[in-house]
Amino acid sequence: MKHVSIVVLDFGSQYTQLIARRMREEKIYCEILPYYTKADAIKAKNPQGIILSGGPSSVYSKDAYEVDQEVYNMGIPVLGICYGMQRIAVDFGGSVIRSDHHEYGKAELEIVKPSLLFDDVDNGTTVWMSHSDRVDELPEGFEPIAISANSPYAAIANEDKKVYAMQFHPEVNHSVEGYLMLRNFARKICGVTEKWEMGHFLKEQIKIIREKVGDGKVLCGLSGGVDSSVVAALLYEAIGDQLVPVFVDNGLLRKGEREQVEEVFKINLKVPLITVDAVDNFLGKLAGVSDPETKRKIIGHTFIEEFEAEAKKHEGIKFLAQGTLYPDVIESISVKGPSEVIKSHHNVGGLPDWMDFELIEPLRELFKDEVRKMGLELGLPSSMINRHPFPGPGLAIRIMGDVNRPDLDLLREADAILLDELKASGYYTRTWQAFAVLLNVKSVGVMGDNRTYDNTVCVRVVEAVDGMTATFAHLPHDLLERISRRIINEVDGINRVVYDISSKPPATIEWE
Ligand code: XMP
Repeated sequence: MKHVSIVVLDFGSQYTQLIARRMREEKIYCEILPYYTKADAIKAKNPQGIILSGGPSSVYSKDAYEVDQEVYNMGIPVLGICYGMQRIAVDFGGSVIRSDHHEYGKAELEIVKPSLLFDDVDNGTTVWMSHSDRVDELPEGFEPIAISANSPYAAIANEDKKVYAMQFHPEVNHSVEGYLMLRNFARKICGVTEKWEMGHFLKEQIKIIREKVGDGKVLCGLSGGVDSSVVAALLYEAIGDQLVPVFVDNGLLRKGEREQVEEVFKINLKVPLITVDAVDNFLGKLAGVSDPETKRKIIGHTFIEEFEAEAKKHEGIKFLAQGTLYPDVIESISVKGPSEVIKSHHNVGGLPDWMDFELIEPLRELFKDEVRKMGLELGLPSSMINRHPFPGPGLAIRIMGDVNRPDLDLLREADAILLDELKASGYYTRTWQAFAVLLNVKSVGVMGDNRTYDNTVCVRVVEAVDGMTATFAHLPHDLLERISRRIINEVDGINRVVYDISSKPPATIEWE
């Protein structure tokens, strides 16, 4: 059984994932479970401490989220954060005041009683408050260990029972030494000594995969993106030739992409990659189609058709590998409850019934940056690991109107120049995504002494943290000028380049 050092019970705060992130940055292995997880299920993880997260509701609301009271009798330390603090206050017999006034922002923390929780923390350190309800009467056995101008109970403790609570959010960056408090809780109060390292995790995963797979075969679809590449490399390391890695070339890839994926897997990693050349099938089905949603549907169906045809050629496939990451898992299992669990097929868009394989999702405990670290350990080149995201429907949703070979070739050339210039200027790593869009708009130009009537390319470069929102990148004008000049000079058929200055929302990152 895998040992989890710290369990976080999630009451729905937007910051819950950050608690796990901070802990892992401190090399403490931490998992998030929904708030209603029973004490027995928590015990099965063998944790050394429990954190009750923040959450949007009030402990006095009719359907307030409650915690299995046995959690407090497990004999391990508990730390409540914000809602978690109010939960503890009420569960131990204190009271909470409902308040319409929201305390939001930075506060100075005055430590009034020494506690291991604040070891090495500066008195007067800045913390981040975001709450409306607050503890009014302390439960018996608890005392304040820190105060702030507006909170007489900014942090409280029952040192005998090893139950601690904070009104502020130590997990956000605005709480300058919050990471230290979380580390103190885990290391000094809970006694966690293990150091969670990617190398160990990798070895452990390899063992788990071998045990689970036995002598079965695992089918893995590769897109050339980071997540599926890491999954394939990991599985190959674990089970070698029992892996059936399938890369479908749909003809909608960027310049040199197929060759790059093949080189990394076949030559560098010696993985027997199966490339399915499905270019004719995809482009044939897309011919004459210009509606964006129809394009996406055709591509999704054709992908499954090709994947299925390849899978049928291999006997003994029992598993399907997917690059599901931890944020997807939390999104589906958290406070929304079991009914919304598992959107596991979202990466492959719904497979036919006969392909009812068991899922293997070896990245489901990792955040994106951890996946990147794992990829590097597995020997994937950093050029692949640090790539921008690329949508499944590929260049088809970056060509306005119908998709055909000449337009795809034109767009590939323009796109390659853009990426080349961004990499040379250092902007590639500073931006979330960068690509060219073929607008299906022709305009008049003049080249030499001749009038031209050619295509327009739009350059889209955005900054984002997770792609949910984005702003257009403020690139230097001389860089934009170089990109434009090179595209117009080097790509025959393009005489105008425009820059997309819209943010998301209200625009989206992709054009279709
Ligand atoms: P939008 O255009 O919705 O894109 O702002 C947000 C992010 O999602 C990517 N994207 C996709 N990725 N399949 C994918 O795997 C898709 O169908 C798809 N559509 C958009 C997009 O590139 C951006 O990073």
